Order: sequence, then C-alpha cells, then structure tokens
Amino acid sequence: MKLLILNGPNLNLLGIREPDVYGTQDYSYLCQLITAHAAAIGVEVEIRQSNHEGVLVDWIQQARGRFDGIVLNPAAYTHSSVALLDAVKAVGLPTVEVHISDPDQREPFRRVSYVRAACLASICGHGLQGYLEAMELLKKNLILQSRSEL
Ligand code: DQA
Repeated sequence: MKLLILNGPNLNLLGIREPDVYGTQDYSYLCQLITAHAAAIGVEVEIRQSNHEGVLVDWIQQARGRFDGIVLNPAAYTHSSVALLDAVKAVGLPTVEVHISDPDQREPFRRVSYVRAACLASICGHGLQGYLEAMELLKKNLILQSRSEL
C-alpha cells in the first residue's frame, strides 16, 4: 500500500511561518513524523511539497496507477483551486484533505474548500497529527475496499 503525501505552498516554512497557528516544528520534522508512522502502520509513503499549483496538479495526475491513496494539504490553494479539485476527481484515488489549523475557525475566506468535494474526509485543526490520522483512515479504507472486491 503506497500513499502520496502532498503539501502545498508555504508548508516548507513550517516552524518559521506563524508558529502560533502552525506550531514550532519544521517541515523536516513533519516528514520524519510521517515516515516513522508509515513504518509503524506498514504503509509506504512518498512526501512532496510544492509552491506551484500546476506542479501539484501534475503530481496528482501522475499518482494514478502508482499510489493507492493521497493525503493532501493544498494549503492556500484549498480556497481557490478548481484545478486541484478536478485533478483529484480525475484520478479517482481515495484522498484525505488535511489542514494543520482549522480553516473554518479562521478568516471567512478560508471557509471554502474546493478539494473537499472530492475527498473521503477532511481532518482539520489536529496539528501535524492530522497527517497521521489521514494515513490511518486511508489504510482502513483501502483494506475495506480490497475486501469488498474479493
Ligand atoms: C493550511 C490552512 C490554509 O488556510 C493555509 O493557507 C495554509 C495551511 C493548514 O494546514 O492549516 O497554508 O492548509
């Protein structure tokens, strides 16, 4: 079981950007946390980050046939990108939306999520732990899916 963990703009600046909102741990800590959890629950992961919408679209498209599911934190593109929504719909891979903060409790412009419509679930406001929860949810979902295909 292989999961693609995709992070959008400015998440490479974790630990530096608004620590009161996103915490003090940096992006490499997040990657280590995800990698350790993947090993613990027995899934393979590839973790990527881009500040560019089109690159994220390319990576989602390329995930088809190579990954079993996607954990997606589209960051600011959550609130603007129909292209990311369309990409997730197009590949049809089970996808879980993750946000470190809870956008619904912040500025009104963060209350819209375009990708949400194509996601299995959204995990918001659980900090970095949210990524781990998303991986577990995808694992459970993929196991259930493979059983129902037997
Ligand atoms: C975020 C929330 C978004 O509103 C924001 O633009 C981000 C990070 C989060 O993880 O809480 O960059 O996706």
